[in-house]
Amino acid sequence: MSQSPPRCLRDLGILARLGVLCTVLTLLGGTAVSGMFLYLKQEMRDERAGLTVDDIKGHYHGMSTKAPLLVALEDRHPDELTEDNFPDVERQALIDWLTGDRVSQDFDNFDLGDMAPSEIMAVSCLECHSRTSEGEQAAPEIPLEYWDDVEPLSASRDIQPVSLTILAASTHTHALGLSAITLVLAWLALLTSWPRAIVGVLVGATGLGLLLDIGGWWLTREWIDFAYLIMGAGAVYNGGMVLLGLLVIGDVLMPRKKSAA
Ligand code: HEC
Repeated sequence: MSQSPPRCLRDLGILARLGVLCTVLTLLGGTAVSGMFLYLKQEMRDERAGLTVDDIKGHYHGMSTKAPLLVALEDRHPDELTEDNFPDVERQALIDWLTGDRVSQDFDNFDLGDMAPSEIMAVSCLECHSRTSEGEQAAPEIPLEYWDDVEPLSASRDIQPVSLTILAASTHTHALGLSAITLVLAWLALLTSWPRAIVGVLVGATGLGLLLDIGGWWLTREWIDFAYLIMGAGAVYNGGMVLLGLLVIGDVLMPRKKSAA
């Protein structure tokens, strides 16, 4: 029988299998770490915890977010307060304060007397919004007692998108690096003895995910809603890479195929 090169990873010798196994484990580890890095880098993009689509929108497109305090006041929160105990002039005074440019200076500005934001809030809000508030309607988990409590809820922010130079540099490294790694892993997966249909679907989805993910960066720069494409395609790509890696690992761990000869 002529010595043809092995077509399946399972036909490889023990050392070659070990090499493939270790390399793919390293690659999966790298994918996990880069996912973690992305999370840490982007999660505070909108200056609120958690990686959400808003972080992606802010990074690639830029975004304005409204201060939660302002949103609450404009929504006429809370329902329990009426014109009697929280007159519209006071609500409006808080809104004017939040939309002005002296937010930190005026919070407890003595000269404003009873109309100082801290005073208005002490009377109208602290019943529910102090650390010791009790009762069904209360929100002690959102205290508004001190400037340190109020500050993070009072800033409306303008998030600037990543610069064109950085986006181009990032595309350059990611597009070349990731496509090369993906091709190698796809190739290895095609050398496994798993059913062709499964490998085919995975390779197809992973490649498409990569294209749409990185393409999405540029589309999102122009049209903000493509941020959802980035999230979706990124998830498909990463999931695809992990599954392809697992297929390869599974294959090199399986016993050698019984030769037909
Ligand atoms: C009767 C109780 C009550 C009073 C009075 C009250 N709140 Fe609240 N507030 C709540 C509760 C409960 C929540 C949490 C659930 C919710 O979002 O409605 C909340 C949530 C909030 C939030 C967070 C919204 C978010 O985006 O998570 C802000 C900001 C807020 N209140 C501001 C105020 C301000 C300013 C005042 C005074 C003008 C005030 N609240 C008075 C009960 C109250």
